[in-house]
Order: sequence, then C-alpha cells, then structure tokens
Amino acid sequence: MPRFASSVSSLRSSEIRDLMSVATAPDIISFSGGMPGNDLFPLDSLDEIYRSLTDKEKQVALQYGPTNGLPSMLESLETYLEKKGFPVKENRLMMTTGSLQAIHILAKAFIDPGDTVLVENPSFIGALSAFRSYEANLVSVPLTDVGIDIEQLKIKLENTRTKPKFLYYCPNFHNPAGIIYSMEVKQQMIELLKDQDIVLIEDDVYSDLYFYEEDVPKMKLIKAMNPEGIDVCFTGSFSKILGPGLRLGWMLVPNHIYRKCELIKQSIDACSPSISQVIADKFVRGGYIYNYTARVRQEYKKRGLAMIEALEKNLPSYVTFEKPRGGFYIWLHLPEGTDATPILQKALEKGVVFVTGKTFDPDGIKNDAMRVSFCNTDEAAIQKGIPLLAEAIREVCG
Ligand SMILES: Cc1ncc(COP(=O)(O)O)c(C=O)c1O
Repeated sequence: MPRFASSVSSLRSSEIRDLMSVATAPDIISFSGGMPGNDLFPLDSLDEIYRSLTDKEKQVALQYGPTNGLPSMLESLETYLEKKGFPVKENRLMMTTGSLQAIHILAKAFIDPGDTVLVENPSFIGALSAFRSYEANLVSVPLTDVGIDIEQLKIKLENTRTKPKFLYYCPNFHNPAGIIYSMEVKQQMIELLKDQDIVLIEDDVYSDLYFYEEDVPKMKLIKAMNPEGIDVCFTGSFSKILGPGLRLGWMLVPNHIYRKCELIKQSIDACSPSISQVIADKFVRGGYIYNYTARVRQEYKKRGLAMIEALEKNLPSYVTFEKPRGGFYIWLHLPEGTDATPILQKALEKGVVFVTGKTFDPDGIKNDAMRVSFCNTDEAAIQKGIPLLAEAIREVCG
C-alpha cells in the first residue's frame, strides 16, 4: 500500500464530484451543478477576440507568464475592480488558477495542522475541502437568511480553544444557501473581527448575477468598505461571468499577505494559464463583459423565477426555502432530521439529480436540506424536473 500523507488520508470524494458523471448523462435533468449554462457562453465574443489577436499576442498566450499575472490582464482587471469600488491601489492583485486556487493559497498561507478556522454552515464544499487538506479544525457557525448568525459567531469567537486563523464567508448569492448578506450583518462582522488578528476571506463569485438592480447597494463587499483593523482577502473569478474552463480567478489582498501568496503560487504552478489571461483581458478591456453579464443576468433570472414558481406549485408545504434574488442556487429545508440521501436515490430513478445538504455541512452530518441549481437547465427542463423532484420528496417524507 502506498503510504499517503496524513493530510490527504482524510480526504473523501465529494458527493458532488461523484454525481457529476451521472449528472452529465444526456437524459438526466441536472439541478446539481454550479456551472454556467453551456448555451449561455459568449461564443461570438470569443471568436471575435481570438480573430483580433496579433501573432505577438498569440505567442504571449502560449508562453509562461509572470506568477502574479500578465501585466495587461492585471491592468484591465484593476480598472474593472476599481470601478466597482474596490481599494485596488492599497492592495495587491494576483491572478490565480480559478478562485479555488486563491482559496487554497490562502489556506496554505495560514493553516498549520490543527489550526481553527471559522466557516459558515452550510458552506462552499470546495473551500471546506481546501481547508481540510491543510488539516484545519473547522468550526462552523450557522447561517440565517441574512448572513452568518452573529450571536453564534460571538460565542464561537469567545469559546474556541485556539484563536481562529481566519473566517471564510460567501457574501452574495451564497453557495449553497442562495442568500445575500445584509449590510447590518456585515457591519457586525466588522465590529467583531476588528483588531482581532483574524483574517477575513471574502469569496465572491456570484455578485454580478443579481436579478434586481435595487439589490446592488446592499451587496457591497467588506473589501470595498475597506475597514480598518482587519486583513480582508478578497477572492473572485471569471468562472461564472465568462467560463470556468478558462480556470481564471484572482485575489485582492493586503501587500503583506500578497508577498507570501506569490511565493506559494510560484511553487504550485508558476503562473495561471496565459492563454486564458490574454482572452479575459480583451473581454474586460473591450467592454464585452458588461454586455455579457447584463445578458446572462436576464437569463438566470428567467430560470430562477421559473424554478421558484415550479417549487411553489409542486413542493409539499413542509419543504421551505428562501427565494433567491440572483446567483445559481435554491436551498430547500426539509423537516428537521430528514435524510436527503434516500430522496436523491428516488430522484435519480426518476431522472433528476440535486445535491444533498450534508455535502455542505462542515461536519458532514446534517442532511435535512437539498441544493437545487437553476443555472444549467432551461425553463422547460425546470418545469419537467421539479414535479419529479417533489414526487421523490413525497415518496420519502410522506
Ligand atoms: C462560492 C464559490 N467560490 C469559489 C468557487 C470556485 O470557482 P473557480 O475556482 O471556478 O473560480 C465556486 C465555484 O462553484 C463557488 O461556488
């Protein structure tokens, strides 16, 4: 038997990954993935961008680049983030291989085996796996419909054996809970973390995908508020607003954290794909990004509203959910103590797939919730699939 490192011996394949193979079977209706709709990718813009490249740009695209990113990419992304109100000049921006790599690099920078880190419950599985791979002690704080439960956060901050290294949170159109953090909760988080020497990792990959313009002011990120006395490490991505196949994300972090992260990235992959950066740079610089996000916002809104309507029509009354106002996900609460796994088995028999709650539980136990996503299914598939899902729930729960 190969003698694996203790840091990886506890890693388990996530149900999501295992389901992916089933979920992509041609006849299955998948409410499981967190990927953009295949039919929504900006293929015309991509063709136009590629055709516009000079030979020199194509050579750059195929060459290694600087670890922190191609200068032109950094410049256009800095301008884009500055327009959104981020304090770009007071921080450093680094391109990463997806934002998941940014999260990994931050985890590596801060976690020694056994270190406590604070996470939401439920929480993004990719981040939980990253923290687990560095042998973190995950301490979870429940979510309410307006963000992390502040009273519980206070208690955890006071009672954890060792001071947490960081708090990881997902502010807008949460994965999997679908919620937006209220300004009040974010202010209270700032008060609690101020001068505590606990880093805040703010993971925001969905906030461009709002359904309602009026929500934009309250979605302001803590990084953009630039609070004193907290190191805020912001991570973002092109995955949901251009294409995850590019594997391109970024981190915007204080200079003293950036220096370590750059060294860590050097040892992982030297640089993120140059070809992706050349394309993403043009996508931002040429303004394509604004038209594209405006277009997909409308489409995801249609799908999201179709799913809300289908759920309201078909679900038994004991299943409850917060209506999403953007993003990709709806989080269904089953009666307390229900096990969502038999529901998944029934749903699969009917040709529908979703993700069970325990996937997103930092302790991997609580399974009385389900995540359904509306991003990669059109309205017709939603109208066909949700009644089948409701049937599966009734067959298990009555
Ligand atoms: C909350 C959240 N953060 C980060 C990511 C990772 O995105 P990527 O590595 O593709 O940039 C995802 C992907 O689903 C996500 O949902």
